[in-house]
Amino acid sequence: MRLFWAIELDDAARETLAAAQERLAADPAAAVVNWTRPEALHVTLAFLGEVAEERVPELRAAIESLLPVEPLRLNLAHLGSFGGSRPRVVWAGLGGRDRGKLVALGEGVGAALEPLGFPRERRGFAPHVTLGRVRKQRGRGGRALRELLRGTALPRTPFLAHEVVLFASSYGHAQGPARYTALLRLPCGGGGGGGGGGSGGSGGGSPAAAAA
Ligand code: 2AM
Repeated sequence: MRLFWAIELDDAARETLAAAQERLAADPAAAVVNWTRPEALHVTLAFLGEVAEERVPELRAAIESLLPVEPLRLNLAHLGSFGGSRPRVVWAGLGGRDRGKLVALGEGVGAALEPLGFPRERRGFAPHVTLGRVRKQRGRGGRALRELLRGTALPRTPFLAHEVVLFASSYGHAQGPARYTALLRLPCGGGGGGGGGGSGGSGGGSPAAAAA
């Protein structure tokens, strides 16, 4: 199974992002973007890749001590992209009171998985929701796309992260969109233990440095 740990969005956050996707998609500068379906939008904490099902309990045990003791207060902050002058990924960056705790959680999850054989992202954890991926890059298209993202406001929509979810990702038969199935839901607060380590700093990621 292809697995990843993630935070889910609520309906209001999804609606904000779906509206932003629609607005962006209407602009020729974004014609090169394949948009993620609103139902599939999420915040990835750690991507594990192919993992045998028998290892799920081990994955759970590895992160249980890192779960926040109460839901994280986050918000959608602004739009941006990864890839520098040749954007590859269009995202919504996260802010909010608990953005730092989310970064610590992402860093902690990465650190906890490393001894289990899952390589860590070298770039540090930059909390974001991937809105779409760029299919191809032509000429100066990258600059136009970046300008579009910079000039498009994202309503500051608050949401609570109640759970850390282990998802399995699978593809439909006819190369349809990936489907995500929740295998584990670990609550933030209300169960699963206390604090723990992993306050690894912000890691220098680019999205949403501005906490609100
Ligand atoms: P991202 O889009 O937030 O960067 C589910 O597929 C999630 O796992 C994706 O949203 C993606 O996170 C992450 N992911 C998928 N394939 C990946 C890969 N090869 N390396 C790192 N992260 C990956």
